[in-house]
Amino acid sequence: MVEFARRTRLRGGDELTAILAGSPPGVLSMTGGFPNPATFPTDELDAIAARLVRGDLAALQYTPVGGIPSVREYVLDRQELLQGRRPDPAELIVTSGGMECIALMCHALLDPGDAVAIEAPTYLGALMAFQGAEADLVPIAMDDDGLRVDALAERLEAGLRPKFLYTIPEYQNPTGRTLPLDRRRALVDVCRRHDVLIFEDVAYRELPFDGRSLPSLWSLGPDVVVQAGTFSKTLFPGVRLGWAAGPSGVVAELAAAKQNTDQCAGGLGQRLLEEYGRAGGFERHLPAARELYASHWAALSAALSRHMPDTVRWTEPTGGFLTWLTLRERADAIALRPAATEAGVAYVPGVPFGGTPNTLRLSFSHLGESELETAVHRLATVLA
Ligand SMILES: Cc1ncc(COP(=O)(O)O)c(C=O)c1O
Repeated sequence: MVEFARRTRLRGGDELTAILAGSPPGVLSMTGGFPNPATFPTDELDAIAARLVRGDLAALQYTPVGGIPSVREYVLDRQELLQGRRPDPAELIVTSGGMECIALMCHALLDPGDAVAIEAPTYLGALMAFQGAEADLVPIAMDDDGLRVDALAERLEAGLRPKFLYTIPEYQNPTGRTLPLDRRRALVDVCRRHDVLIFEDVAYRELPFDGRSLPSLWSLGPDVVVQAGTFSKTLFPGVRLGWAAGPSGVVAELAAAKQNTDQCAGGLGQRLLEEYGRAGGFERHLPAARELYASHWAALSAALSRHMPDTVRWTEPTGGFLTWLTLRERADAIALRPAATEAGVAYVPGVPFGGTPNTLRLSFSHLGESELETAVHRLATVLA
C-alpha cells in the first residue's frame, strides 16, 4: 500500500482538473479561463520557433534560474513600458507561469498555520495552493468594486497579521470585478502601515476591453507588493511563462525556491517570447484580442439580459474573460450541474472559489458569439 503525504488530502477537490479536461462533445463549455485560439499568433510563432530550433543554443539549453539574461532584459523593459516602473534586475525573475509564482510564494513564505488573507471568492488554483501549504485562509469581503479595503483595514487594526494578502485587481477570477484607483492607493497605504505584503496577480491585466489600465499595485507600492504575471492570456498558455516582480529580498527567496521546482522556465518558450515581443508582436496582436473579448462579452451580456430569469444577477466586467452569476437565494449551482450538462451547457459552480451555493462563474473567452447565445438560452432553461 502506498502511503501518500498528508498534503495530498489538503488540496481540495478536482474542479481544476475537470476544467482543464474540457467538456463532453455537444456541451457548450463556459468553464475555463482559456484564451481564444483565434488570438494565437501562429504564423509569427512558426517562423520564430523554426529559427530557434535550428540552432539557438540558449533556447535549447538549461537556463539560469531567474531566466535567460536577454529575456529578463525584455521583461524588465516591458514592465517599464506597461507599468511605468522598471524593476531593478534583483526585483524580477521569469517563472513557468502565474501558477508557478503562486507555488513559489507558498514555498518561500508559508509555514503551516500562517494566515493568508484572500478575496472571497478568489482563483481556485491559488486557493488550492494556499490550502496545500496548510495556510489559515482569512476571507475578506468584496463588493462590485472588488476587495473591500475598509474590511481588510478593520481586520488589520484588530490584530490580523497575514503573511500576505492575495488579490487580483483586474477582471478578477472568478468575479470579473476591478479595483478602482482610490482603493488601490488605500490598499497599498494600509498594508504598508501594517507591514503586510500584498501578493498581486495580474493574469488578465493586459486585456481591458477599452485598452486602458489602472496603475498596478506593484507600481504604486514596489516595497510592499509582489506581482505574479503570466503570458498565458496574452501569448498562449502552452508556453507556460510568467514573471514575479517584487522586493529583492522576497524575489531572492522565490528564486531559491525555484531551484526545487523546475529550476528554470523552458528556454525555448523564453526565447520565443523575447523574439516575438521585441518584434512588436504584442502591440500588433493585443488590440484585436481585446476587441474580440469585448465583443464576446457584449454578446454574452445581451444573451443574459434576454434569457435569464429576473432573479438572476451578474457582474459587468470591463476586461478579461469572466462574469459571476448570483442565482435566486435557495438555488444550488452544484446540484443544477447535471441538468445543465444534460441540456448541453457547462459552467463552474461558485462554491469551490469560496462563493455561496447560489453562485456560478461563466467564461466568455472561448465560445463564439452565437454559441454564447445558445449556451445562455440552455442555461436559462435549466434555471427556470
Ligand atoms: C487569476 C489567475 N492567476 C493565475 C493563473 C494561472 O496562470 P498560468 O497559466 O500562467 O499558470 C490563472 C489562470 O487561469 C488565473 O486566472
